Amino acid sequence: MHTSVAFVLFSLLTAVCGQQIGTLTTESHPSLTWSKCTTSGGCTVQEGSVVLDANWRWLHSKTGSTNCYTGNTWDTTLCPDPATCAANCALDGADYTGTYGITTAGDALTLKFVTHGPYSTNIGSRVYLMASTTKYQMFMLRNQEFTFDVDVSNLPCGLNGALYFAGMDADGGMAKYPTNKAGAQYGTGYCDSQCPHDIKFINGEANVLNWTPSSNNGNSGTGQYGTCCTEMDVWEANSVSAAYTPHACTVHGQTRCSGSGLYGGVCDKDGCDFNSYRMGNTTFYGRGLAVDTSSKFTVVTQFITVDNTSTGALSEIRRLYVQNGKKAAFGDTNSFESKGGLTGMGTAFSKGMVLVMSLWDDYAENMLWLDSDYPATKSVTTPGVARGTCSPSSGLPASVEANSPGSSVTYSNIKFGDIGTTF
Ligand SMILES: *[C@@H]1O[C@H](CO)[C@@H](O)[C@H](O)[C@H]1NC(C)=O
Ligand SMILES: *[C@@H]1O[C@H](CO)[C@@H](O)[C@H](O)[C@H]1NC(C)=O
Repeated sequence: MHTSVAFVLFSLLTAVCGQQIGTLTTESHPSLTWSKCTTSGGCTVQEGSVVLDANWRWLHSKTGSTNCYTGNTWDTTLCPDPATCAANCALDGADYTGTYGITTAGDALTLKFVTHGPYSTNIGSRVYLMASTTKYQMFMLRNQEFTFDVDVSNLPCGLNGALYFAGMDADGGMAKYPTNKAGAQYGTGYCDSQCPHDIKFINGEANVLNWTPSSNNGNSGTGQYGTCCTEMDVWEANSVSAAYTPHACTVHGQTRCSGSGLYGGVCDKDGCDFNSYRMGNTTFYGRGLAVDTSSKFTVVTQFITVDNTSTGALSEIRRLYVQNGKKAAFGDTNSFESKGGLTGMGTAFSKGMVLVMSLWDDYAENMLWLDSDYPATKSVTTPGVARGTCSPSSGLPASVEANSPGSSVTYSNIKFGDIGTTF
């Protein structure tokens, strides 16, 4: 009895304060149209928008403009512990173009790599497709097809223009964690299969415990907690290499985890990736090749179920490319059928997944797992080690940021619906 009363009181107390909204810059989501398609009705245009992830935002005192987080460290006065920090600190609105290099035009979204804004230098970004001002668009992927155009011509070795689905909550976690006052409108609630520990707020609390600033990244660090969920990597690519990878987790929906033990057990971190170069076809994807990355092309992904219904178990993920009216598939083994990679994806898929689009460089592995020989400890002749033609010495973030700051990726013409209706 006592325990439950205490719990209720605690909930009420914490509900009156929390991870706040800042108003120094008005949050205005860039609009992005996309299409919903059905066999019977064809495609209809949807008026969507995108929101910048919370981690990129200016985090300052709720009552003023003192930084709660600077570089890769927390202000110890405003943020002495997770709950106080969430109550004291506000996520502000974003100047999408000026600060973050994010622009939209009709059905196209462009993410620029390095942006020198008035107050900061921004590296990469991560945005989510919105259904409304306060809710992410949820995608039910089973027995459906997802298609988009991508321009990777301006993405060199070491960069990753990624489009994927994550098992996040539609409201960014606000309902489950009332101390999160910002929600999806401010891009909260991110999770993925790597259970990232660099997320500043998880479950309505600041990730300040045991926060360790990164040794090689002046903007990031890792806290005690990670945030895990199922992830379907539809697209991770640059102009040299591309991969798609389902990563299942045993937890359903966004879940906070701590320590590497749980982390290892909850998600399939490596996934089961599909990269045509890695699988032996070195002439399929790249500049001037079958899928020519020097210009825009269309990527089609089909989520096939055992019984061709939206409730059947996911049995296969098919990939097709269309460029200049020509279709290209990589061999006829382009699926995850019988590889076990789909186990566990079904549950997350039935709850709905959030569409994530990002551009990033890799402070951990220099993106060599995508576009070069990896791991360096193995001979390049070992099957699976050669993944692309980038040099094993490429992809160092400091070099890529200095040498290719103007890199960018454009995603456009997103269509989603019944199999065979989107391309
Ligand atoms: C690679 O893919 C292209 C395009 O589908 C095909 O024409 C070529 O024969 C493939 N090469 C190998 C070695 O499988
Ligand atoms: C599902 O559809 C495919 C082709 O669209 C067909 O070949 C297959 O037999 C169908 N499977 C079932 C169980 O109806």
